[in-house]
Amino acid sequence: MFFSNIIWIVMDYRYSNMLSEMKQSEIRELLKYASSDDVISFGGGMPNPQAFAIDDLKEIIDYLIENHGKDVFQYGSTAGIVTLRKEISKMLSETEKIKVSENNIIVTSGSQQGLYASAKVLCDPFDPVITEMPTYIGALSAYNANKVDIHGVEMDDDGIMTEKVEDEIRSLKNSGKPPKFIYVIPTFQNPSGRTMSLERRKHLLEISEENDIPIIEDNPYGELRYSGSRIPSIKSLDKNDSVVYMGTFSKIMTPGLRIGFIAGPQEFVDRINLLKQALDLATNTLSTYIAAEYLSRGIMKKQIPKSIDLYRRKRDIMLRALADHFPDDSEWTKPDGGMFLWARVNSRIDTTLMAKEAISRGVMYVSGSAFYPHMERRDEMRLNFTFPTDEKIEEGIKRLASLIREKTAHL
Ligand SMILES: Cc1ncc(COP(=O)(O)O)c(C=O)c1O
Repeated sequence: MFFSNIIWIVMDYRYSNMLSEMKQSEIRELLKYASSDDVISFGGGMPNPQAFAIDDLKEIIDYLIENHGKDVFQYGSTAGIVTLRKEISKMLSETEKIKVSENNIIVTSGSQQGLYASAKVLCDPFDPVITEMPTYIGALSAYNANKVDIHGVEMDDDGIMTEKVEDEIRSLKNSGKPPKFIYVIPTFQNPSGRTMSLERRKHLLEISEENDIPIIEDNPYGELRYSGSRIPSIKSLDKNDSVVYMGTFSKIMTPGLRIGFIAGPQEFVDRINLLKQALDLATNTLSTYIAAEYLSRGIMKKQIPKSIDLYRRKRDIMLRALADHFPDDSEWTKPDGGMFLWARVNSRIDTTLMAKEAISRGVMYVSGSAFYPHMERRDEMRLNFTFPTDEKIEEGIKRLASLIREKTAHL
């Protein structure tokens, strides 16, 4: 044959060492199953599409295309259009009592970009940082991609244990490498659903100021409160530019538009701006216009209470189902808001190993170990209650409980 003597040489790519240790996140892997009708998913962190104001969004998009077509499809400024930054500044002042000028705000492609970019502007490879333990899996990926040395500090029901933060800082300082920043999600934390107490927030701020270590406060869920009363954000208590605040519209508007933002000291924001010019030049222009209109028309204020009603009901259904079906030796958080609760089962059950079996029984969760910097615990799981239907929440918890009971019986 004509081709039989040709030897194909396949190119050998010499990939960077920087990313070679990164692995596909467990959530991304498991999300493949989330779309299957047979599997009830407590896995992803997805808002419920019923909470999307689709008619309002359609009206806004039609209006923007008809009236501002030349602008919305053009390149935008790296910081994000000024109308959106002004709206964000107003929103932060009204909701979180954070006073920040639009010049200290930069719009990002989701707060995920903010997490990556903030590590990049503050850290060199192998620099230590402190996080809650467990913490958001996407922060772990963003930090790992920057080769940052992550030091997790334990939490209890009042949030990160601030005395332990002091111990960790002391020990890192003694080793000659103080941490570059402290990353926290103080309100309705992902994954645990816990909220940091006011005392701990104040203490963390004191620690940050005494040691000259900035806090990165990530607050995607603060507006989604179903019970209890609001606790001031750390940024609202900050008088010395010690806190960089990160927000997102993903959970309170739609994640598909990819609108997040960072509010922080001028130099920090300027450095993020420089880096963003290398990452994507600017956040999607159309999305930034849509978000600005959504805020200025008051749709955010109208829509959030609807999401709260929907999610409160779902949280309560999940809490009821857990109380009815989970074995007595398990425990779980009872979050006042957000999207997740965190369950701990018999310590001899490995939830990482059990995850695949759970899928074969038609229910999916994310195992707790994925949220630890070094898989420190393996008997926990994160359960999302915002996405499944009410009936599926009840049924999914039943399926999970029966699997856990079987496992316990064979220990
Ligand atoms: C704590 C936390 N930070 C950041 C993000 C990223 O959100 P996005 O990039 O959609 O704004 C998430 C998403 O689940 C989150 O839970």
